[in-house]
Amino acid sequence: MVTIAVDGPSGSGKSSVSKAVAARLGLAYLDTGAMYRAATLWCVRSGVALDDTAAVAAAVRAMPLEMGVDPAAPGVALDGDDVAAAIRTTDVTAVVSQVATNLDVRDELRRRQRAIIADETVGGFSGGHGIVAEGRDITTVVAPDADARVLLVASEEARLRRRSLEVHGVADATSVEATRDQVLRRDRDDSTVSTFHVAADGVVTVDSSDLDFEQTVEAVLTVVERAAV
Ligand code: DC
Repeated sequence: MVTIAVDGPSGSGKSSVSKAVAARLGLAYLDTGAMYRAATLWCVRSGVALDDTAAVAAAVRAMPLEMGVDPAAPGVALDGDDVAAAIRTTDVTAVVSQVATNLDVRDELRRRQRAIIADETVGGFSGGHGIVAEGRDITTVVAPDADARVLLVASEEARLRRRSLEVHGVADATSVEATRDQVLRRDRDDSTVSTFHVAADGVVTVDSSDLDFEQTVEAVLTVVERAAV
């Protein structure tokens, strides 16, 4: 069983890169950000006020979440309902930090993440080979003993350009500016619970600012090979 941990800020490309690395190596894939997003949607749908930290924690502990781990189609379901699209709306994105900074929520989701990572069958998908897990605190807290640990970073300019392309379909000056506030605010909010801009001891930094997608995937695969996984 191999575990590969990838952390990074939004816009670093870590989701698409991690998925590609998992697919190449025949491993399962876990998007832990999707779990924080699903928790947020669950609370909103359950009518729980997000500033009521105890109620949010209780709702998340009872959340019927199922994470798909196939890198070709990583599903997310709440009570059997496919929420893969619903967790990516701007409404959820705008408030997810409020749930992700709830320490009891983090305890609960980390427990679930470790259980998925340790599951020999990882959803019946990888034939027990292992998993690529990505997020903000995988290299440091969730799986500090992972076989390979990567911090994927990119310059602010590159991250804004990518996010703008994702959200607006273009990366001209106006669209990049429109994205700036949202990306930088989320960076700030996320930084209150995990330090993911600086690599911890033993974590290899890959800077994707000047790399295209394929080159970034290759760079992460090289880290994995060097770790003799
Ligand atoms: O990567 P993303 O944008 O889907 O993450 C959604 C939110 O969850 C974001 O506010 C950061 C937070 N998150 C976290 O705190 N810890 C993780 N391991 C993954 C995501």
